[in-house]
Amino acid sequence: MSSVSFNDLHHSSHWPDLAGVPPWDYTLGGGGRDLIDRVITESGATHMLEIGCFLCASARRWLSNHPNLKLVGIDPWDDGLIDQVARYIGRPNLTRKYPAPATQQQMLADITKNGPYATALANVVEFKDRFAPVRGLSPDKLYELKDKGFEPDIVYIDCDKKPDELEVSHKLWPNAHITGDDWHWNRAHGYPMRTVVNEFAKKHGFTVEADWATWILKR
Ligand SMILES: C[S@@+](CC[C@H](N)C(=O)[O-])C[C@H]1O[C@@H](n2cnc3c(N)ncnc32)[C@H](O)[C@@H]1O
Repeated sequence: MSSVSFNDLHHSSHWPDLAGVPPWDYTLGGGGRDLIDRVITESGATHMLEIGCFLCASARRWLSNHPNLKLVGIDPWDDGLIDQVARYIGRPNLTRKYPAPATQQQMLADITKNGPYATALANVVEFKDRFAPVRGLSPDKLYELKDKGFEPDIVYIDCDKKPDELEVSHKLWPNAHITGDDWHWNRAHGYPMRTVVNEFAKKHGFTVEADWATWILKR
């Protein structure tokens, strides 16, 4: 629990003027997020840290499903995400969500115009009181959050598919539930996140439960 430090983080976060900025509630996650809902509900988590937020679609999910949850989200939200969205045009994941090519082009045009940061915040603006965006990179930002007194009950990792986030999160917040995405990514690359998570679990004595893209570590 760390209400005071959440309030400080929230207070120091920068929310740009979002008038006229359309949200695009598009997630890169691949399913199984009920597992995370279960951990939040069963553990009574009130403070969550998400590493890698993109357009805040997953953030929106946690905040709308869990009215008592406060969320800190780390992401650089840099303009590289615009090129990333451009690469999704016409590809199956984006086409499933927005079948019309014109809608896909509109999404790209809006994100190009308004930037990934404002677009992401527009997606969670109705939960503004419970979301503190932190612009920058993990793991550096994890140490900064710890220094500021933030203590998440649950950490959700959806960024680089490297061991750093697991190791540093566990070192800083040994009691937090460590969870994440990318379990399903990517068969051609030999499912790198499975290797990261399984090796971490073995080293620190956790078991792993996974469903589609989502994984959680259990004590
Ligand atoms: C797969 S997307 C996140 C998807 C999001 N959680 C959702 O479900 O919609 C990965 C995100 O991680 C961010 N990212 C990449 N490296 C990062 C790092 N070291 N620290 C924080 N965020 C990072 C990227 O900017 C990108 O927005």
